Amino acid sequence: MILPVYAYGSPVLRKIASDIDADFPELDILISNMFETMRSSEGVGLAAPQIGKSIRVFVVDASVYGEEYEDLKDFRKVFINARIIEEWGDEELLSEGCLSVPKIHEDVLRKSSIRMKYLDEQFVEHEKVYEGMAARIIQHEYDHLEGIMFPDKLSPLKKRLIKGKLRDISNGKVNTSYKMIFPTKK
Ligand code: NI
Repeated sequence: MILPVYAYGSPVLRKIASDIDADFPELDILISNMFETMRSSEGVGLAAPQIGKSIRVFVVDASVYGEEYEDLKDFRKVFINARIIEEWGDEELLSEGCLSVPKIHEDVLRKSSIRMKYLDEQFVEHEKVYEGMAARIIQHEYDHLEGIMFPDKLSPLKKRLIKGKLRDISNGKVNTSYKMIFPTKK
């Protein structure tokens, strides 16, 4: 089932998401709905707060970048109760977008490497290092679990420049090919 995506300005996007345990009801359905929602909106990642659930679950599918980045060819994964335990390396500036912030793309500065702990959908724990584009996609989705959105990470000047556009999104004045829920739509 394709779920509507919560837009910038929605309170659920600003909460710190909670860990879940293995008996979380219908988790497999939730995960498959998240993959379906992400694909239908042509996203490469989707975090549970974006579909209105404040839990530490996100999905990624960056296989579309497989031609460009060899390590992303099979990068299709679920991350549960993830924690980034270390970040290092050069800070790199690269354009990002977000399904909750439609039609805005801005350069975001992020460190190049991360080490993280997470559970897979069988609740098996993993510890893994990610670098480059894979790290960036994870960092972006992980931020959603912490109530952080990519516009927060822009310079004060850039923030000022997109303020009106962000307000329009919160007010539902944006057209998307996918369904959205707006916090203050009149
Ligand atoms: Ni996002």
